[in-house]
Amino acid sequence: AYTFYQDLRLNQPVFPMSSGGSNSSWIITKYDHVKELLKSPSFIKDQNKLFSQSSREEMNADELNIFQNMMLDVDPPDHTRLRKLVQPYFNPKTIKQLEPRITEIAQELLEEMKHKKGSVDLIDDYAFPLPIIVISELLGVPVEDRNKFRKWSNTIVAASDNMTADFQEDVEAFTAYLTSLFEKRKAEPEEDLISSLLQTAEEEEQLTKAELYSMVVLLIIAGHETTVNLIGNTMFALFEHPEQMSKIKFDQTLIPSAIEEGLRFYSPVDFSTARWAEEDMEFHGQEIRGGDLVLASISSANRDEEKFSHAEQFDVTRSKNAHVAFGFGIHFCLGAPLARLEGKVAIEELLSAFPNIDLNRTMNRPEWKPVFLLRGLSQLPVALN
Ligand code: HEM
Repeated sequence: AYTFYQDLRLNQPVFPMSSGGSNSSWIITKYDHVKELLKSPSFIKDQNKLFSQSSREEMNADELNIFQNMMLDVDPPDHTRLRKLVQPYFNPKTIKQLEPRITEIAQELLEEMKHKKGSVDLIDDYAFPLPIIVISELLGVPVEDRNKFRKWSNTIVAASDNMTADFQEDVEAFTAYLTSLFEKRKAEPEEDLISSLLQTAEEEEQLTKAELYSMVVLLIIAGHETTVNLIGNTMFALFEHPEQMSKIKFDQTLIPSAIEEGLRFYSPVDFSTARWAEEDMEFHGQEIRGGDLVLASISSANRDEEKFSHAEQFDVTRSKNAHVAFGFGIHFCLGAPLARLEGKVAIEELLSAFPNIDLNRTMNRPEWKPVFLLRGLSQLPVALN
């Protein structure tokens, strides 16, 4: 995929993916163009605006839709209002306070790994459970329910590629689960994000019912697969580049910059979510029409030679690493401080527990999951040595 992007950046940076029917889809591959797209108010998130003014309200009046009202899918002023409600929970300062607890969770998982007989899979045994436990605690979702989320969240993420038969069923189960959790927290509020959102929804009427569900679903899903990929992809890149691994083992203060390089080199989110051109326009030599779908290739932008010197090299000491792995503009990842902290703690603790950890080279080379929007490994078998 990376050579394909390189070719597009050189020859067709605003690339028409399809032009069947009345509207086209485009992929944007150059770093500067990606940033321009993501910050431009002419590319909007709410597709319904293109057709009718009131359809969002009409949709809300319908049955409960747990996807249609996420901050990620709406424009200002709704976006501003929704984001403001949860922003305080995700500020770097607030997030930093979670460090001791994240460390504890990492250490518990590593302890379990020590006692595991047979092969250890860094994804299943470590990268996956860590972020899901952290986000569950932050939201106030009972940790023992987290396996249910794995299935629901997988089905929902996979639905961006192909609808599985389970989709409708899983969505209903997820909705029902949240309804009963909300009931519990309403009756007995706790010090968690869900209790606080419920209060806001009730007292200040700043949040509709559908928005409340969507918010919780978004936070669970967004904080889930992505951070798993960050930990897995960065470790994989380190295994592939033993000289870089040696550098961070020698100087652990390089771990945060190794995380940034992991984010750039194997970006966990390959593409931005969809944006629609609000009206006809020219974008770097191409005529884009109102209603066209435009996707920013984050992976491509992060390998743009015009922006990053020796872009194809994985370099844990890279300075001024202004990657766009967390997006750009008003939808810039809300969870970036949390993801960065989880990544740092995960790798620090892993390397201090198992300084000689390496890929299990007797197994096949790990493979990327065949998901279009996200880049992550399905397995990462390791030898703890
Ligand atoms: C938005 C990446 C972890 C919550 C985004 C966007 C990207 C991204 C690229 C923007 C999408 C677009 O503009 O189309 C990542 C990566 C992560 C990560 C690479 C991990 C390495 C998290 C975590 C959370 C989170 C841990 C929270 C629990 C969100 C939310 C948005 C978002 C709520 C929507 C923000 C908005 O619309 O204003 N993320 N994310 N993310 N992310 Fe993350």
